[in-house]
Amino acid sequence: MKIAKKIIFWTLVAFALIQFFPIDRTNQPVDTKVNFVDARKSPEKIRTLLKNACYDCHSNETVYPKYAFIAPVSWSVKSHVNEGREHLNFSVWGTYNKDLKENMLTKSVQTIQNKTMPMPGYIVYHKEANLSEAERALLIQYFEEMLKTKTY
Ligand code: HEC
Repeated sequence: MKIAKKIIFWTLVAFALIQFFPIDRTNQPVDTKVNFVDARKSPEKIRTLLKNACYDCHSNETVYPKYAFIAPVSWSVKSHVNEGREHLNFSVWGTYNKDLKENMLTKSVQTIQNKTMPMPGYIVYHKEANLSEAERALLIQYFEEMLKTKTY
């Protein structure tokens, strides 16, 4: 019993201490000239879908949920955001070269199709990102149209 109490005590202490290591939640400013939905003048529906389902991890417009304020969950959230932006950042879309754009559009179609994007764990806490089949089809169609017409 004594040991159990000690374990609980020190776990709580550790939990309290890690709260002193918050994540950096500042977003870089967005330049509308290179931001995907602005530069392309995407229709309102597409804009909403992308903002709801992708922009938290793939843009500089991340809206951090409440649970992102509590370590160690916050660290995991931040690492997903960092990694997501590294792969694909819609806020700087206009700065990508043709190959990268093609590659990202193709991969976006694939990942939406096979439901690896938006990340399944994220959907649980973000109902608006839980895209219906019709919404997935709409995004896929939009990306495929861009690929076909070579308008990136
Ligand atoms: C919760 C965060 C999160 C959300 C929301 C999210 N992604 Fe991702 N995405 C990631 C992470 C992390 C990676 C990199 C690791 C990986 O490939 O799983 C990634 C990778 C990608 C890649 C690159 C794959 C590759 O092989 O290079 C594409 C394309 C992508 N996501 C598209 C999307 C699209 C489109 C949406 C919205 C429909 C979306 N993502 C929503 C976190 C997210």
